[in-house]
Amino acid sequence: METIDWKNLGFGYIKTDWNIRSTHRNGAWSPLTATQDENLTLHMASTCLHYGQEAFEGLKAFRGADGKTRIFRLEENAKRMIRTAEYTMMAPPTVELFRDACIEAVRRNERFIPPYGTGASLYIRPLLIGTGAQVGVKPAAEYMFVVFVTPVGPYYKEGFRPISIMVDRHHDRSAPLGTGFVKVGGNYAASLTSADIAHKAGYPGVLYLDAREKKYIDESGAANFFAIRDGAYITPKSPSILPSITNMSLRDLAADFGLRVEQREVEFAELPTFEEAGSCGTAAVISPIGNIYDPDENRTYIFGDGTTPGPVSTRLYETLRAIQLGEAPDPRGWNTVL
Ligand code: PLP
Ligand code: COI
Repeated sequence: METIDWKNLGFGYIKTDWNIRSTHRNGAWSPLTATQDENLTLHMASTCLHYGQEAFEGLKAFRGADGKTRIFRLEENAKRMIRTAEYTMMAPPTVELFRDACIEAVRRNERFIPPYGTGASLYIRPLLIGTGAQVGVKPAAEYMFVVFVTPVGPYYKEGFRPISIMVDRHHDRSAPLGTGFVKVGGNYAASLTSADIAHKAGYPGVLYLDAREKKYIDESGAANFFAIRDGAYITPKSPSILPSITNMSLRDLAADFGLRVEQREVEFAELPTFEEAGSCGTAAVISPIGNIYDPDENRTYIFGDGTTPGPVSTRLYETLRAIQLGEAPDPRGWNTVL
């Protein structure tokens, strides 16, 4: 086997051995099949290509301290894909189909699960697409569900070190009554221009504000935003952000630490009052935010000293990682242990 430098993996696609598939026709999902083919053969009029009938998920499997493999919050990701499918009028997978496909994909690609202690993990990417042909704007009659896996390292090359992000008030990734609350590919296409502007200015991430008033914080690229102030874990409640499963988990951990959990509208004007800021998600895990640049005001907001992760973010990160790696008890049953 080609050797993988586990400790220096980035967040990219590396070919693995197998992917798992099912097709939905005449009202039923077919039994799962495993294939080594990385390509899909699609009808050119498939609704996923024209009308964005596409949903994806992202979750991770970890090799634990005890050698066992754990998949983090499988059921929550299944439920979110079902919500996305329902909103975009696609045939939803069942929780069971989703779970079985993810487990099968991980088991069959066991040699790609990064060893314990490398900091890397096996990223699981479930994908649901409309494959039936339509020319009118209508839901497809056929769907395909695919799960592939690929080993990944940190999403931001900084790892668990504070990143700098930039506000973009001139592009929205989603609208209050739009698709931001579900995980459809179109939201990510809509984010590419602002990501490009930020990258060219030297910032790995973007801070999105609410589309209507640009008064409240929405989220940070492909991750939710949180802040720490006066013993509170503060995170935006907004109809246009993706309900992050990592954030849901951090709210529980924050409450365990005795922090007050505030999930509410968070005004941009509160930024100078925050002791710590961070972004959280499956890919991002916790990426502390060292500073936020606002190009319209030509102002930079700095959290802590801007270069050292804050104590609460560090404790949250370490506690979450310990649960995912089987180093700490998992009292809420977040892991599926294979
Ligand atoms: N927000 C967006 C837009 C995302 O793409 C993601 C990644 O899935 C998240 C937040 C974080 O969600 P989760 O913690 O469930 O991965
Ligand atoms: C994830 O955290 O799983 C994401 O979806 C982020 C990104 C790679 C789209």
